[in-house]
Amino acid sequence: MSKEIDASELMSLCKRRGFIWPSFEIYGGVAGMFDYGPLGCSLRNNIVDVWRAIYKGREGFVEIDSETVNPREVFKASGHVDEFSDLITYCKECEAPFRADHLVKEFYDNPDVLTPKELEEAFVKHSIKCPECGGDLGSVEEFNLMFKTTIGPGSSRVGYLRPETAQGIFVNYNNLYRYNREKLPLGVIQTGRGYRNEIAPRQGMIRMREFNMMEVELFVDPEDKDWVRFPKIENEMITLVPNTTCEPVEMTVGEAVEKGIIANRVLAYFVYTTKQLLIRLGIDPARLRFRQHLSDEMAHYAADCWDAEVLLSYGWMEITGIADRGCWDLSRHAEFSGQDLTHFKKFDEPVEMEVEKIKANHKLLGPRFKGQAKDIAAAMESADPKSVVDGKLIVNVNGEDIELTSDLFEVVTVREKIAGKRVIPHVIEPSHGLDRIFYSVLEHAYDFDEKEEYTVLHLKPEVAPIKVGVFPLMEKDGLDECARDIYEVLQSAGIESYYDGSGTIGKRYARMDEVGTPYCITVDYETLDGDTKGTVTIRDRDSKNQKRIPVSDVKAIISALISGDSEF
Ligand code: ATP
Ligand code: GLY
Repeated sequence: MSKEIDASELMSLCKRRGFIWPSFEIYGGVAGMFDYGPLGCSLRNNIVDVWRAIYKGREGFVEIDSETVNPREVFKASGHVDEFSDLITYCKECEAPFRADHLVKEFYDNPDVLTPKELEEAFVKHSIKCPECGGDLGSVEEFNLMFKTTIGPGSSRVGYLRPETAQGIFVNYNNLYRYNREKLPLGVIQTGRGYRNEIAPRQGMIRMREFNMMEVELFVDPEDKDWVRFPKIENEMITLVPNTTCEPVEMTVGEAVEKGIIANRVLAYFVYTTKQLLIRLGIDPARLRFRQHLSDEMAHYAADCWDAEVLLSYGWMEITGIADRGCWDLSRHAEFSGQDLTHFKKFDEPVEMEVEKIKANHKLLGPRFKGQAKDIAAAMESADPKSVVDGKLIVNVNGEDIELTSDLFEVVTVREKIAGKRVIPHVIEPSHGLDRIFYSVLEHAYDFDEKEEYTVLHLKPEVAPIKVGVFPLMEKDGLDECARDIYEVLQSAGIESYYDGSGTIGKRYARMDEVGTPYCITVDYETLDGDTKGTVTIRDRDSKNQKRIPVSDVKAIISALISGDSEF
């Protein structure tokens, strides 16, 4: 278990060693905004690669990349324009803004379910004042977290920076469905920026205004919420905090479904997949749990939601949300866009059943609509009888909406052989906050070597930004040339390496340990001469053990160590 740390210690290491820098620092910085430095980019990319290997590789999902600026219609339909708000209060004296629920968190287990009125009452009851100046707090109001903009010149087309990447997948449902040859399940992943104008970001990378997400949207048949690989994991253990007891409990994934704690097998499978992902990235299993949202805590779109929470120096923190979004998103986009966003579910055998149909009155249509009558009749007879409102039917023929009165058609019941039915797919969504995962991986890797008196990051080899430090014992006598050759071979093979020829070997190890480099190679005089000619030492960061290996095998040995195919 790593040493307990202060987040500021880790952030200062991140800044000093080029993982993370506060953005716009030369202009004083902006709260909740960070830039990734060279090591940060590599670590982040490696995290994304592991996520991709699981979802695109193992599960066979497809990846897309959609726009970050979306027109208002998208977020009106998704509910974000009306619902995506936090509660804000301003200090009456210094005018500093605060998230109202955060001010009362020591008095309530779940302050984000309190209403504005309850929060105002809580301020009075618990004598809560402005944390900055001690002034009185003002009323509590809703503050929409989306950044607003306009698309194109002028202000006619309102747009928003996306608060989640998910909507880009939902609005592409028909394209994706066609790509998947009109079959379910359909799994889609997307990584990219999300933007939330957080009221008062104060916890480093935990609450950013521009952040990175890795989202997964799995479209499933609502009547078949199962997953083919579920039997492979049903006996695996998981720590759950159900909303009925709010106490952590260990059980198998199968038991969680049988007892109705997790609603269905597909949701349970992806809760467990999240555990696999996080542990593979280096999250300590003892500091990981899955907490079910309380019913009044759930996002506007969610039917059930589990948060992957990790224990950090800030306390338990959500880093991933796994939600059953039901048919919310596709129903809303279908309603707002007027498009059919369904799946045609074929029956095993055609079924004969009574169905309602619209029958056109051809005798009246001909004289009234002349040359257009045939097209209108065809449009009427393929329309859904449910679209008849107040006895009238509107059909679109060649781009024109035509209103038809009740004398022009009748709704009849006929017996037909039906091949299948249309259903609105449900969505299961593991939504990963990449920056929070990045930060948590660093905290859980953090350690202090008491003997050597320096920090060591025990990053998993697969995610470590630098895989190998390559050192010549001295930068002379050809040792440096040999070390540079090894460095080039590794770099060319895509194994991120770091050549370091300065300072004592001990200092060079320390520099590599501090950024989590799992292996170091040293070229010494024995590499050039004697019984061990052609060999170098390889040193393991965690055990500090060393052994000699042939130069010609360095690439293969390092590759196997990183992939986990061999152990040191
Ligand atoms: P919180 O309650 O902490 O604000 P949330 O419930 O709003 O989080 P979600 O909407 O479920 O978060 O977003 C999915 C994931 O995106 C979260 O699990 C988190 O890891 C990440 N995330 C959300 N907001 C931020 C943010 N402001 N900065 C960094 N990551 C974020
Ligand atoms: N897409 C999930 C979320 O942003 O909450």
